[in-house]
Amino acid sequence: MDLSSNHRGAWGSRIGFILAAAGSAIGLGNIWRFPYVTGENGGAAFVLFYFIFVLIIGLPVMISELAIGRHTQKNPVGAFSALANRSWWPLLGILGVATGVGILSYYSVIAGWTLGYFIKAIGGSFTDMNGEQAMQHFTQFVSDPKTSLIYLVVFLGITGMVVMGGVSSGIERWAKILMPVLLFLLIVLTLRSVTLQGAKEGLAFYLKPDFSKISLSMLANALGQALFSLSLGMGTMITYGSYIAKRENLAISAGYVCLFDTLIAIISGLMIFPALFAMGLDPEGGPGLVFVVLPTIFEQMPGGFIFGAGFFLLLTVAALTSTISLLEVPVAYMVDEKKWRRPKAVLLMTLLALILGVPSALSQGAVSWLSNIPLIGLGFLDFANILLGNYSLTTGALFIAIFVGYKWGVKNVIKEVTLENNQFYFANLWSFLIRFFCPIAILAIFMYILITRNYF
Ligand code: TRP
Repeated sequence: MDLSSNHRGAWGSRIGFILAAAGSAIGLGNIWRFPYVTGENGGAAFVLFYFIFVLIIGLPVMISELAIGRHTQKNPVGAFSALANRSWWPLLGILGVATGVGILSYYSVIAGWTLGYFIKAIGGSFTDMNGEQAMQHFTQFVSDPKTSLIYLVVFLGITGMVVMGGVSSGIERWAKILMPVLLFLLIVLTLRSVTLQGAKEGLAFYLKPDFSKISLSMLANALGQALFSLSLGMGTMITYGSYIAKRENLAISAGYVCLFDTLIAIISGLMIFPALFAMGLDPEGGPGLVFVVLPTIFEQMPGGFIFGAGFFLLLTVAALTSTISLLEVPVAYMVDEKKWRRPKAVLLMTLLALILGVPSALSQGAVSWLSNIPLIGLGFLDFANILLGNYSLTTGALFIAIFVGYKWGVKNVIKEVTLENNQFYFANLWSFLIRFFCPIAILAIFMYILITRNYF
């Protein structure tokens, strides 16, 4: 496919797009965020609702975002201006661009930790480590401000360099090679984890729903996690959709992306929880969970050193294919709307993310005077993760559903999906979900949060 005559770039092939979109979706959201949020929300019952939300909110919203992007061939702001000129709708694109930079900033801090753990693994730091020691090790690592900052700079620098390379030569080439290798390593580690002594309890926590754990705040977290994991609610898929050829079936492509993303999340849980219970660690361990549990698995396997290094390297790469998509949104906006040249846009947006990332990098408690500043004392990174990763995405998804359902119109999405004789299976069901179910369900969750003031 060659859409490059319009100078925006395009995916080289169908599988190229699916892998690139899956590369955006699959990342720390699946392997770092999913297990710890599952742990904090009581296990299997949360997982069940997460699946349901992927299917009945995530998939319909993804089809909508892709259709908006491919129809308009634009970044989120340009897309909403094109479809609803002289209205407030372009603000939704602005929210997306801002959310993108914001998520990029703290996400890169975590990605920096994975990079740091790769280097540590090579240095042989993870031999002879029990759960307790792994925990101490992690706390010490993240509370050193210098290390956190250096890894943040390195990781963002790499992201910027790839995005500089453009759509098919940069982003697509990387995703194609590295995603399958990651899947392989995940499966190997999962096999080790589920065969550890004491793994059963972890499997039960993860797979046997305890319905007394269901609460509205759990539902809000499940929805936030579904959107975050699928890269929805801020226009990533609008931007990626703008590079897809007209002959591709958007609904089927979206289905594949949801399937792959969910598969990786399921496997990650299978990797983490059995080992976690086997090591006697607390499932409510928070954002440090994978960094504490994984080293204890490596320690228990022959060649753990290789697996440890390999795993953290690939996790860093999975994070990279996600940060690329996060950075691509503000960059596409600056290039399309502000007529910046690509290198300038990449450089300035990366710098902005770096500056915004500093409080997150320093928020893990070490710098004592910082802990007196209100939000930072709370753990700025956790705060950003909830504000941007839950609320901002959920707000974005709500308005995207309303936009498609009532402003642009479901007919136009169906027309876009069925171009060149493509089939849109379940188009009626999709219309119902996007017009009625998605907005009402999301609003209900917001109302609950407002009424109970249970914000964080
Ligand atoms: N989905 C990615 C992950 O699971 C993170 C990500 C990339 C993202 N682009 C996004 C999250 C856009 C929300 C919105 O790691």
